Order: sequence, then C-alpha cells, then structure tokens
Amino acid sequence: MANLSHIQVGKPSLARPTPWRTALVTGASSGIGAALAHRLAEGGTEVVLAARRIELLEATARSIRARRGSARVLELDVTRPDDTVAAIRRVDADVGGLDLVVANAGIGWPQPARSLSWEKMSPLFATNFTGALATLTAVLPEMVRRGRGHLVGISSVAVYGPTPGGSGYRATKAGLTTFLDNLRIELGDSGVHATAVHPGFVRTPFADAFSMQPPMVWSADDAAHFIVRRLPKAPARIDFPFSVVQAMRVLSALPAFLRDRLVRRVRLGPDDE
Ligand SMILES: NC(=O)c1ccc[n+]([C@@H]2O[C@H](COP(=O)([O-])OP(=O)(O)OC[C@H]3O[C@@H](n4cnc5c(N)ncnc54)[C@H](OP(=O)(O)O)[C@@H]3O)[C@@H](O)[C@H]2O)c1
Repeated sequence: MANLSHIQVGKPSLARPTPWRTALVTGASSGIGAALAHRLAEGGTEVVLAARRIELLEATARSIRARRGSARVLELDVTRPDDTVAAIRRVDADVGGLDLVVANAGIGWPQPARSLSWEKMSPLFATNFTGALATLTAVLPEMVRRGRGHLVGISSVAVYGPTPGGSGYRATKAGLTTFLDNLRIELGDSGVHATAVHPGFVRTPFADAFSMQPPMVWSADDAAHFIVRRLPKAPARIDFPFSVVQAMRVLSALPAFLRDRLVRRVRLGPDDE
C-alpha cells in the first residue's frame, strides 16, 4: 500500500543548483538514498522520499525542511511491483511530472554458494531487480512524451567482478545495469537519460552485514555528493572508488585458475547464515 504525505516546501539552500525540479528516490529512509535526497534538496530539487519505514522518511524530510529544502514522503514496498508503479504514477501527476527517478532501494548480504537456496535469494531479486525495474519504468512513457527525464539505478561494483557470497546479489545488479545500458542506447535523443551507478563499499546499514573490513569505504554523504555532481551530464555509468573499480576489472581479466583461487580465499561474511 502506498501513502503520500506532503511535508514542506521551502527555499533551497545556496548549494550548487541541481537541474531537476522534482525527483523520486527509493530507499530514502537510510544510507545512500537518504544522503542523495539531502543533496538533491540542497540543490533546489523537490524530493519524494520513498521506502517502507515511514517514520525514518519523515525524519529525513524534517531534516531537509530544517535546511530549507522541499520534501514529500511516500510509503512504498518495491517488492509489490504493481503497487509501486501505481504509486509512482500518482506522485508523477501530483508533482506535475517527475524529472528524476532513482531506483536505489536494495538489499544484500553474503550468501555462500554451498548454503544457497531460492528462499534465501528470491527477496534480492524482488527488491533489487523487479522492484528497481518497476520503479524505473513507472513513468517512462510520460517522460518520453514530455521529452525530458532521467532514470538512475544504484547498482554495484560487484557487476565488474566475482564477489564471494555474491552470486545472487551480483546477478540482480548485473540485470539492473544491463537494463539501463540498453535503455539508454534505445532512448537516444528522446530527451530521457539513463545512468547506472556502481558504488564500492559505502558505510551504511547495508555494509554492516559484511564482517570483513573492506578497503576504500566511503561515507554515504561523499557517495551522494559524487553521484549528484556527475548526474547532470547524464553519463552511462558512475563508478567509484576508482581504485576498487580498477581492482575488480583486473581481477576479472586474470586467468580463471588464478582469479578463482583468489576469490575463494576471501570471506565477506560467515560461512553460513
Ligand atoms: N553500502 C554499500 O556498500 C553499497 C555498495 C554497492 C551498492 N549499494 C547499493 O546501494 C543501495 C542503497 O543501499 P545502502 O547501502 O544505502 O543500504 P541501506 O542503508 O540498508 O538502505 C537500503 C534502503 O533500501 C530500502 N528498501 C529495502 N527494501 C525495500 C523495499 N522492499 N521497498 C522499499 N524500500 C526498500 C530501505 O528502506 P526500508 O527498509 O525503510 O524500506 C533503505 O532505505 C542498494 O541498492 C545497495 O545494493 C550499496
């Protein structure tokens, strides 16, 4: 069930202006999504914050209001794709057209292959893949009709190389990236853009599920700054941190016997959940 409530409209801060009048961010109750909502609102964008935990959304919206930004909250469970599409279409009509839609809601934790099952893996697909595609296509026809819009998916550097315990998670994100890559090419000069974002580790509750200390961890705020500064040029991809992306690419290019041995030595979490 979706529930929309208007929080506040105020003057934007003096931060670098953003080119979108309106934006919807899923997974805005925490981590990267909440930080993205803050950065967008600081640039003058009216942001719709969407997720399941309404009280956290309200708190983020209040914080945006305290900084003289503009925010609405939308209670949304992306694992219900039909409800998600209907809710986002209602928001689109309510705000006079969404300029930016960010499919950020996602879940993931190490799932060692030897104890993998469909029951463990299916929530990942319902959220990260089906949920993201429902989010991104909800108002695609309206954006094309208007001749403007930007669709963004928060994928992962995991798409660039094998990750221990990541078979299911990596597949969901590879699917999301592939969808956006193809969409972007097909949309051509329609005025609607598509970007896939590939973060490395970012300090959020999501990252807490991994027991190892990963290298090059960014704060959610730094990640949001990096993304929002690059999005206006509508790149095909936004990847960070550079060194982690390069390391993943080198790992993938290694001879299989060597790459496989290295990947099998790494433990991102417990051997069994
Ligand atoms: N942190 C990292 O190291 C990292 C690295 C690469 C990629 N990513 C990706 O970045 C995105 C954001 O993750 P994060 O690190 O910011 O994690 P987070 O702090 O755990 O935030 C995840 C967000 O997704 C929302 N969400 C989960 N299931 C949902 C559902 N069924 N319906 C609607 N919203 C849902 C959560 O809100 P509710 O629980 O309130 O619904 C929450 O706001 C994810 O797609 C993740 O895969 C993260």
